[in-house]
Amino acid sequence: MANFEITGKTSLCGEIRVSGAKNEALKLISLAVLVPDEFVLDNVPRLKDVMTQLEIFEALGGKYKFEDSKLTLNSNEINSAEIPDELSGKLRASIVYAGSLLSRFGRAKIPCPGGCVIGSRSVETHLDAFRQAGVLVKDRDGCFNLTSSDGTDDLDIKLCEKSVTATENIILYLSVGQRRARVSNIAIEPEIMHLIESINQSGGDIIFDGDNQVVIKGVPSLKSSSTIVIPDRIEAGTFAIAIAVTGGEGSVFPYPSKYLEALTDQLISCGINIRIENDRAIIGKSDKIKPFSIKTEPYPGFPTDLQSPMSLVASVANGESAINEAMFDNRLGYLNELKGMGLNVEILNKHEAKIFGPAKLAPGVIDSMDLRSGITLLIAAMMAEGKTILKDAEIIDRGYENIEKKLNNAGAKIVRVE
Ligand code: EPU
Repeated sequence: MANFEITGKTSLCGEIRVSGAKNEALKLISLAVLVPDEFVLDNVPRLKDVMTQLEIFEALGGKYKFEDSKLTLNSNEINSAEIPDELSGKLRASIVYAGSLLSRFGRAKIPCPGGCVIGSRSVETHLDAFRQAGVLVKDRDGCFNLTSSDGTDDLDIKLCEKSVTATENIILYLSVGQRRARVSNIAIEPEIMHLIESINQSGGDIIFDGDNQVVIKGVPSLKSSSTIVIPDRIEAGTFAIAIAVTGGEGSVFPYPSKYLEALTDQLISCGINIRIENDRAIIGKSDKIKPFSIKTEPYPGFPTDLQSPMSLVASVANGESAINEAMFDNRLGYLNELKGMGLNVEILNKHEAKIFGPAKLAPGVIDSMDLRSGITLLIAAMMAEGKTILKDAEIIDRGYENIEKKLNNAGAKIVRVE
């Protein structure tokens, strides 16, 4: 495993470019199972998780060509509906193959998915939605065997909770076939809305009715098409925070401001000097940063994936900030690493913490833990005077493309060491 060696203190200046959204690209690769001939994706980030999702695609019999950020997928020769165990364990998004494989083959074998250890992360919402759609679910040794039924009745499905990947799975399953279904209580993250758009561009018939529900009319088959992955809102928001907390001046481009209202509004009310011009966020020096209180929620609420970077805003704010991670029950562990660096933090329970700022962070040897904690700690290391070793750089590679190159171009001093 490689580590990062970061020399602080550095401020980020200039423009930082945002790649395509990881959590959309991964699902579009699953959609490719249902698209005949060529499915062409542009603005695809070259990330570890994307490469793993492609390994699964190949293991199923699919072919792909990845040139720069253009990915051409061909699923014509896919002949297996079974996700290999060793690959499934590497990422959460492997489960989103369930919907498309079930739709194409009438059955799918899905081992329990992997991904960051940030909470209990049950797959019950997925299984319950499939059952409501008439799918027979057998769970043997942590592996799910799914078999679809041949019914033609209209379906009325209600998700147990607004789960992102469960929403994607049920939509992928029902988009091809003979049924008409209303699915309510769905998650409406921008990556999901764009997945729906991509299915419709491929000949699907899905109508979003604006109230966390969709009406899906199964079509006999999809057709070859192309799409462009939307910018990664989590990466964009993280970079905006990084510029602000390192005391830099710069911009983030493209900054998908319409998907980042909860964050931008919060940063503005903390007194951070951020303004939006077209597709760019411009961040200037801020005078006095105010403490805040956030609670994570499904979109359009405050995103859980931006919860950990907000702790760095708390570290430069004057006073007591409160974080309520209402979604995951193991996503505050990184605060112990920040505590070791000198942050005054009190973890109240699995979901809540208080941070007393401002803090002068000190360098140290710290663990990346999970993807979003890892990027937070990388930025924290840039804020600390001296050399920090951040272990397990590959955890950050799962979701951030060329991270040290992007940040070094803006003034960071990050070296990857074996
Ligand atoms: N949850 C609630 N209430 C809700 C909906 C969800 O409490 O109304 C809880 C769930 O119980 C769960 C958590 O929130 O503990 C997240 O649930 P979800 O099923 O939506 O998560 P997911 O589909 O497994 C995706 C992303 C995550 C992202 C979450 C939430 C992918 C591959 N993963 O996970 O991304 O944090 O949605 O937005 O799309 C990441 O990229 O680092 C990452 C972890």
